[in-house]
Amino acid sequence: MSPRRPLVAGNWKMNGSAEFVQNFAAELVDRVVEDAVSVIVFPPAAYLGTLVRALEGCAIEVGGQNAHTEAAGAFTGEVAPEMVADLGGRWLLVGHSERRQYFGETDDLIADKFAAALRAGLAPVLCVGETLEEREAGEAEGVVCRQLLAVTQRLDIAQVALGVVAYEPVWAIGTGWTATPDQAQEMHRVIRAALSEQDAKLAEGMRILYGGSVNADNAGELMAQPDIDGGLVGGASLSAEGFAAIVAAAAGR
Ligand code: PGA
Repeated sequence: MSPRRPLVAGNWKMNGSAEFVQNFAAELVDRVVEDAVSVIVFPPAAYLGTLVRALEGCAIEVGGQNAHTEAAGAFTGEVAPEMVADLGGRWLLVGHSERRQYFGETDDLIADKFAAALRAGLAPVLCVGETLEEREAGEAEGVVCRQLLAVTQRLDIAQVALGVVAYEPVWAIGTGWTATPDQAQEMHRVIRAALSEQDAKLAEGMRILYGGSVNADNAGELMAQPDIDGGLVGGASLSAEGFAAIVAAAAGR
């Protein structure tokens, strides 16, 4: 039995509408009955406050998909982590591969964002993962460890342990081509071992999520792996029914 409480997080990316938020929240509250699983939804920033209000009184938590490193200032178009917290957000995605790929986020910037999330009282979810080219070149573990170390070398391990790591192979995101449970478990083991080098006890307690084409059909098998503590779900989190089925799979792990 794992000492870690499973966690299932839904990343809506740039999808949704005010109406969608209301319908989704009502349906999710009806369907999610597992109190053995932490459940988080990451809506677009524009709907964060609406979703927090719609989920008021239930244990499902809300987070931001991205935030700036500063708390306030002349940064037109940006959202501070403090604002995410002010709206009732508790979590922040940091270093998602789409941020790395389309918005040029570097390991250094991501480490800054991780620290900024903690400053604001948010728990960061640090996303790491290799591209297909990197995997084919035999560099997957090296890339993932580099991304992880960028944060663990900057911050104290006790601070890192306030967050969660999400392993998301880039080639599995939005492709329907998920890592096999063995491939995913192997990378999760490597991640935990890397954390363990700094503090074995904290590493043992840290949750490591798998992301990349997780759905209700493959979630059970992935989450049955010893070092997989839940999922970061993109496409399949846009249906309350499908998302709730993944939460149920995590409960049965
Ligand atoms: P996906 O996305 O489930 O649609 O593959 C996962 C993610 O990007 O977090």
